[in-house]
Amino acid sequence: MAVLFTGIQPTGFLHIGNYFGAIKNWVKLQHEYESYVSIVDYHAITVRYDTGSMPHNVFEMATGLYACGIDFDRTNLFVQSEVPGHAELTWIFNTVTSIGDLERMTQFKDKSKQNRENINVGLLDYPVLQAADILIYKGEVVPVGEDQVQHIEFAREVSRKFNVRYGDTFPECKALLTETPRVMGLDGTNKMSKSRENYIALFEPEEEIYKKVSVAKTDPARKRRTDPGTPQKCNIFSLHGLVTSEEQLEEITTGCTTAGIGCLDCKRVFVENLMEVLDPIQKSYRDYSSRKKEVKARLRENAEKCRAVAKKTIVEVKQRMGLTPVFSI
Ligand code: AMP
Ligand code: TRP
Repeated sequence: MAVLFTGIQPTGFLHIGNYFGAIKNWVKLQHEYESYVSIVDYHAITVRYDTGSMPHNVFEMATGLYACGIDFDRTNLFVQSEVPGHAELTWIFNTVTSIGDLERMTQFKDKSKQNRENINVGLLDYPVLQAADILIYKGEVVPVGEDQVQHIEFAREVSRKFNVRYGDTFPECKALLTETPRVMGLDGTNKMSKSRENYIALFEPEEEIYKKVSVAKTDPARKRRTDPGTPQKCNIFSLHGLVTSEEQLEEITTGCTTAGIGCLDCKRVFVENLMEVLDPIQKSYRDYSSRKKEVKARLRENAEKCRAVAKKTIVEVKQRMGLTPVFSI
């Protein structure tokens, strides 16, 4: 079975961009691949963070992922810093990586603008750690949202460079996208993300979601209820695509373009359809939250399994690089 690897930062909560852009795919693909999903705390510390909240955020992420349908028995869900091999392989990969390539990465450029007071080496080296994450398990398939595609291409490049220099060791990984690889935020101008506060959280109650959606921007040309609208210019219509059937989308299109329905009617249908997906996930989340001991035990067990796989790769890599201990000659 081919290996799938992906990662997610312990931000403390999930939003529907994460779910429809990536996690939904992880749940489906765990039946087809040997799956590893990592909660990447070593990536999260490249920006300022609150040390006191970190353990809670890691646990929340694990609970959230299990609630979404990540299966205890099908996916190796683990915490990145529990497997030291990731950091070890990062050091090795640093030596086949050029600084210029890292400086050109879009995310590095964005994040260094946002964190001018803290442009640390880790922020620059972030894609190398990501490559090590994937390749230490010889991952071939990496399901992510569109924002991560450049990082996966970079990982493929690292693998090529290593193989050329030291012999065929790593596979060439590739990104796998969903049909909705870039879910837009409620502001209608940026992708949904935690930092922009334009998100619908996965575990938000329906009333809160409705409150946010009801004030979200729609087609700017539709100022009055009687103005006809253009669904293609409406952000709520693009969100509808995540949860609404083709048939209902057609009805909404007709209603909107003829001013037969108002934006609030359309928003109400969206929230209703969204809750059909979120209700069972939210129920499952409450269930997993009350099984703290079990979740923690799983994470511990999985990290142990990962350490064994990672160690094997490190031994192989060191051998290829002539790093066998001097006492063995
Ligand atoms: P992050 O929360 O940044 O660690 O992202 C976790 C996963 O969700 C990654 O695969 C991202 O590419 C994906 N993701 C995050 N935001 C979005 C979005 N707005 N649309 C689609 N995918 C997303
Ligand atoms: N950088 C990714 C993000 O922010 C998370 C991540 C870390 C990852 N390591 C990975 C994703 C390896 C895929 C593969 O979303």
